[in-house]
Amino acid sequence: MPIVTFPWPVIRPPLEWIDQAIPVFSPRSEEERSKDRFDGNPSNVDIYTGLAYGYRLFGEGAAEGLYRTMSSLVLAQRQCERLLDIGCGVGRMLYDCAPALPHTQFTGVDYSYEMCRRAARILQSNGELRLPAWQHRGMSQAVLRGVGPLPNVHLAQANALDLPFAAATFDTVTATLLLCRLSDPLRGLAEMVRVLRPGGRLLLATPFGYLDAVQWQALAGPGKLREILSSFGFRIEEWFDGLVYREVIDASGNAHDWRVTVAAATLVP
Ligand SMILES: C[S@@+](CC[C@H](N)C(=O)[O-])C[C@H]1O[C@@H](n2cnc3c(N)ncnc32)[C@H](O)[C@@H]1O
Repeated sequence: MPIVTFPWPVIRPPLEWIDQAIPVFSPRSEEERSKDRFDGNPSNVDIYTGLAYGYRLFGEGAAEGLYRTMSSLVLAQRQCERLLDIGCGVGRMLYDCAPALPHTQFTGVDYSYEMCRRAARILQSNGELRLPAWQHRGMSQAVLRGVGPLPNVHLAQANALDLPFAAATFDTVTATLLLCRLSDPLRGLAEMVRVLRPGGRLLLATPFGYLDAVQWQALAGPGKLREILSSFGFRIEEWFDGLVYREVIDASGNAHDWRVTVAAATLVP
């Protein structure tokens, strides 16, 4: 098996590898993966790729307000040696920021094997990627070219609720559209705090679009998130609600809108 080459401490070894290249820290059974919309259906991975890279593939800007907001928060930082993007999906934030900050080591983790695989294909190779699933939605056959290999990007499969990294490892932690996909969003926040160094920054974007009554009770909306971040010792530096993230469904312009809250906060030492 390959040797883990992360430039920082992991607290347990990977138990499997995806394609002999991506370490797996929180293995999932075939059955678990097949029930997860982010992991079980390859055409969904094409759909998420088209949503995240729609501006490149189709000239579609519907998601750009969100992605450019997050990348501008990352790029505005003065000092960041190590950044962790939790729930990195198909790697859009890493794609935008890693080439611009060559001295920052970027780590992307996702629970989904297929999302990790797709992120690797885009960030660690320079091959062409075609997305036939979008043709069924009336979009043109478009090709995305990988930008890899990016030497400062590291990918791993891991669970946001049980990260394999030592405490206080990262200068910045980001999570875009992740919090409301977690079964236990409070535990997810506690893990973010654990791996962030004192003085480090948390950049969050979440629409609070839960699918489960328990999650609504745990962290219903922006007011509660603010309260929890303050109780963890964060100083909030930027906050706004109502950023529209539009998920385009098809060539007719049908879409889902998400109302996203964006927060940038520093963990007070
Ligand atoms: C809506 S997507 C957002 C992806 C990416 N952050 C973006 O904005 O393009 C949510 C991602 O969170 C991942 N995810 C869900 N639960 C997770 C968990 N427990 N640990 C890590 N990733 C998780 C999913 O696999 C999926 O890739």
